Parts: sequence; C-alpha cells; structure tokens
Amino acid sequence: MISQILVSALLISTVYGVNVTVQHYGKEEITVSITGMEDIKMLPGAVQMVSMEENWSGNISACSEVCDGPKTVAELKLGAEQDQYVVSVVNGFNLPMKLIPETHHETHCKASVCAANVLKMCPEENRVVDSLGNTAACQGVPELLKAVCPDAIVEETERITKEQCCKALGYLVLIG
Ligand SMILES: *[C@@H]1O[C@H](CO)[C@@H](O)[C@H](O)[C@H]1NC(C)=O
Ligand SMILES: *[C@@H]1O[C@H](CO)[C@@H](O)[C@H](O)[C@H]1NC(C)=O
Ligand SMILES: *[C@@H]1O[C@H](CO)[C@@H](O)[C@H](O)[C@H]1NC(C)=O
Repeated sequence: MISQILVSALLISTVYGVNVTVQHYGKEEITVSITGMEDIKMLPGAVQMVSMEENWSGNISACSEVCDGPKTVAELKLGAEQDQYVVSVVNGFNLPMKLIPETHHETHCKASVCAANVLKMCPEENRVVDSLGNTAACQGVPELLKAVCPDAIVEETERITKEQCCKALGYLVLIG
C-alpha cells in the first residue's frame, strides 16, 4: 500500500511535473517570490530548481533591497496542451529577466526577455531608490520599456500579441 502510494507520487512528479530553474546572475542577494510558495533567498550565482504541478499558474519575481516597489515579473500558465508565458513590466522594472522554455529544439518556443539595463537609462524622476540612494526600480516609463524590451508586455493590451505559447519540458528563469 505504502509502496503503491510512493510509486504513484513518483509517477505524477516525473510524468507531469514541470521544473522551473531559477538562476541568479546579479551581484546582490535577492529574494525570489513565486505564487503559492515560500520566498527563496538566493545569493549571486545561486541556482534553484522548483517543481511545479502540470497545471500551475502564477508569477515569479525577485527583489533585493526594495521589495515593495515595482518588479519585473515572469508570468507562467502551464497547461496540458500548451503553456503560456511572458515577462511583464506592466508595473515597472527592477531586475533583468529572461524566461526561457526548454524543449527538444521546437523553434516556435521563444524566450521572453526584458534584460536591458533599464535602471541606468531610467530618468531621475522615475527612479525608485533604496536606502543608499541606488536605483532599485524604474516606473512610469512605458515608452522606454517598449523600446528596450520589445518582447515584454508593458501594457495589458499587449498580452494577446506578446504572450508566447509552447509546450515546454521545463523553464529557465535567469535573473540579473
Ligand atoms: C524535474 O526534476 C526532477 C529532479 O531533478 C527530475 O527527477 C524530473 O525528471 C524532472 N522533471 C522533468 C519533467 O524534467
Ligand atoms: C491542478 O491539478 C490537480 C490534480 O489534477 C487538481 O487537484 C487541481 O485542482 C488543479 N489546479 C488547478 C488550478 O486547476
Ligand atoms: C502576476 O503579475 C501580474 C503583473 O505582471 C499581475 O497582474 C497578476 O495579478 C499577478 N498574478 C498573480 C497570481 O500574482
């Protein structure tokens, strides 16, 4: 009985689970928030794998000093037939992010990326600064974001055209 339960649990996780691997390339410790899960602290260079249920849907975002400000968000809706995913900066930008599907060479499965150095380009009045005065996020700059992050959604109306569809084996979320 117990071994049957173990076997079926194993089958569910290996057959249906989708692994999302978060890799942190930035220079500061970050806190990664994933819908429905405990926050995860990640040091520079850290790699963290999270197993999602096959129908999981939610957001992945991260922050370092300022966690109540605007955030770059990786949005993921897993599905039996198709997943939908996109990087969103509708509320603003804080960290560069790449959301990359892992597939067996399916060329239609494209990465969604917003990895430009937006903080550096951000006008003074649109900057959100941390306690040391360093720029932690940038908000209220839709035109800048559309220009430097053409794959990301900057306004909700872009979701239909920019959301990617794919059935991936797993996803990589590269931060920083
Ligand atoms: C997810 O990762 C686990 C642990 O490394 C592995 O056993 C499993 O096969 C992976 N699932 C997929 C769908 O790649
Ligand atoms: C996901 O699938 C599980 C198992 O089939 C089910 O219990 C759960 O309600 C589903 N969740 C959503 C959000 O559809
Ligand atoms: C995911 O983030 C978007 C903004 O990018 C927000 O509108 C949505 O409510 C978030 N969803 C969840 C489940 O947190």
